[in-house]
Amino acid sequence: MKLNTIKLTNFRNYEKLCLEFNNHLNVIYGNNGAGKTNLVEAIYFLSITKSFRTNNDKMLIKNGELSTKIEGEVEEDTKNNYQVILNKEGKKVKINNNIVRKVSDYITNINIVLLEPEEQMIFNASPQVRRKLLNIEISKLEKEYIIYLNNYNVILKQRNFYLRDLYINGNASKDYLNILTQKLIDWGLKIYELRLKFINKINEYLSIKYQEIYKEGDLFIKYSSDYNNKTKDEINEMYEKNYNREIALGKTLYGIHHDDLIFYLDKKDISEWGSNGQKKNAIFAFKLAEIELIKEQNNILPILILDDLFSALDNKKIKNIIALLNDNIQTFITTTELNRINKKLLSKASIFKVNKGLVEEEEYGR
Ligand SMILES: Nc1ncnc2c1ncn2[C@@H]1O[C@H](COP(=O)(O)OP(=O)(O)O)[C@@H](O)[C@H]1O
Ligand SMILES: [Mg+2]
Repeated sequence: MKLNTIKLTNFRNYEKLCLEFNNHLNVIYGNNGAGKTNLVEAIYFLSITKSFRTNNDKMLIKNGELSTKIEGEVEEDTKNNYQVILNKEGKKVKINNNIVRKVSDYITNINIVLLEPEEQMIFNASPQVRRKLLNIEISKLEKEYIIYLNNYNVILKQRNFYLRDLYINGNASKDYLNILTQKLIDWGLKIYELRLKFINKINEYLSIKYQEIYKEGDLFIKYSSDYNNKTKDEINEMYEKNYNREIALGKTLYGIHHDDLIFYLDKKDISEWGSNGQKKNAIFAFKLAEIELIKEQNNILPILILDDLFSALDNKKIKNIIALLNDNIQTFITTTELNRINKKLLSKASIFKVNKGLVEEEEYGR
């Protein structure tokens, strides 16, 4: 899968930008604050209509403007044009100029794997951050996932409201709570199954990839969920036994909204024991494993983005890592230090110099 072109209108610090990309390697360089991450953020946003830096889409619109548009041509077997238009009212997405109403029909089309420096924070962040990673990665692979997740969240909200109603109205019947619990379990199990499948698959590749980077080490993700190793009846029982506690607290105490991922390196929890370097390598190994998974499941090579290469990866390993990259995988690298990238690699790349929202393509060696 290749991104041939991108066209931005009023995105972050870009007023108008039109670029043609290289099929293999694209190196984007410039000073801090120039707009390098903004550019790869636009590519990422085109793919999944979300930013990796903010949950507030309005931040993406150039200051003082009312809307932004990101447009790109993506080539797989055929060429297709993708568009995201964002304004105060919300987002619109189009494929070949036709509006796509269901997000799930859009976001499974352009497959991107992104590595950025902040990401190593996920190990020590709240479980919510790790669930977000999981949600994004799975929704790229499984069309139904986002629909299940939306349905689950709707029921979860209703159930929490109803628990508070029951608290006020102590004598009300629990029949409706039972119905909501059943629905919660049904959607929850669908999500659980897809999460489990994803994590099992990632685990098949994880250690291999970690060892390719680091030569040794056994990396493994444990999926921690209230639904782990339980039959549907046992899950039911877990809720029923705790109705009174849930009513007293006014919230749903069990379910996939509490799921978490725990990364173990050589059987030790990496969030507690891992060095910074190990964390960087672990998250990179996760991304490489994901590439394998996308290859296996969708039979395509995703687009790879390495934002701020020398901070995202462990310095000592960068040479190995670049050598690992498959020639056929279209890669975007951003950096402040062009001269640290291998000359042979640069000679095959397209090089873009970014300065205050302006981008110039450079001939190598000039
Ligand atoms: N919505 C926006 N409108 C205009 N400029 C923005 C907006 N959001 C961010 N910027 C500017 O973009 C620049 C940061 O760009 P970024 O891509 O993060 O830099 P870097 O090249 O270091 O990765 C800052 O100068 C910031 O002021
Ligand atoms: Mg940056």
